[in-house]
Amino acid sequence: MATPNPSFTTAVRAFDDAAIAEAARLIGEGQCAAIPTETVYGLAADATNGEAVARIYEAKGRPSFNPLIVHVPTIDAAQQIATFDEAAEKLAAAFWPGPLTLVLPRRADCPIAGLATAGLDTIAIRVPAHPAMQALLKASDKPLAAPSANASGRISPTRAEHVLATLCGHIPLIVDAGPTSHGLESTIVAAMGGTIRLLRPGPISAEEIERVAGLALSSSETGNIEAPGQLESHYAPEKPLRLNAADALAGEWLIGFGDVVGDATLSGSSDLVEAAATLFERLHQAEASERPRIAVAPIPENGLGAAINDRLRRAAA
Ligand code: TXA
Ligand code: MG
Repeated sequence: MATPNPSFTTAVRAFDDAAIAEAARLIGEGQCAAIPTETVYGLAADATNGEAVARIYEAKGRPSFNPLIVHVPTIDAAQQIATFDEAAEKLAAAFWPGPLTLVLPRRADCPIAGLATAGLDTIAIRVPAHPAMQALLKASDKPLAAPSANASGRISPTRAEHVLATLCGHIPLIVDAGPTSHGLESTIVAAMGGTIRLLRPGPISAEEIERVAGLALSSSETGNIEAPGQLESHYAPEKPLRLNAADALAGEWLIGFGDVVGDATLSGSSDLVEAAATLFERLHQAEASERPRIAVAPIPENGLGAAINDRLRRAAA
């Protein structure tokens, strides 16, 4: 966790034109602001300004080798920064704006700060759909580097209160537009040289990616330096977590699913879309409870279940 920075009092402002103008002013000064996307809240800064990007790592207490996702308002803007092969073009056309991040070769004239890509010659880019993030991209007129707005190694934030819980005193502003709709970080696909690789499962499934790209995904080693977000500690709550639990043992707060009711459920109707949207909310609830341990009901492995189980296995590791 980062050490408190007494120079910030963290303002929380409801999403409106004035809040976006204030966030854009901070971004222009090289500061960060927390802003919702359709996946999770992001901690945004000007991706072309290395010092501004450094403030993101500072606020999050994040290991410096983790490259960040750069957000742009349109496909055209993305094409100024990175090189698209045929599969990348198809994926962008089908899923942007939306919860897909493409890892692509940086263009030689790419204006993005090296720190934002951790020195890699590839860049992770996304065109987000959320109106607040879109408004900030337009008002600031900058590509915005934005990792999830949580202290490093803590649960990703799906509400302004979650951002406040770990970044209060570390950042000047949180724009609050209520809970995010997916509640799960974007799917990350590397698309270059005519091959596609899944670097992080997310709201868009592997099957949808393969269908749209017209290619099979090549295998990708987990823990590869290319996707350090896959490090096991990345999604961990601070309490031990037990998977595939049908009942709570003594001292456990049980996160339910389907027939397993639990203290609160991911989805009583076994709906994986609902489960993904509530996953981080439930982990936050479990972490905030009086009980020392967390247990989670079994989640099927199909569709979005693969992404949910990926997050849960990392949290349990
Ligand atoms: O939904 C999301 O993607 C959210 C919202 C805020 O947009 N952002 C997010 O960012 O999850 P972050 O920094 O928490 O995750 C970025 C991921 C990491 O796993 C990182 O390793 C990977 O993207 N990444 C970034 N640049 C990369 C690159 N050049 N090659 C491979 N992986 C990269
Ligand atoms: Mg994160």
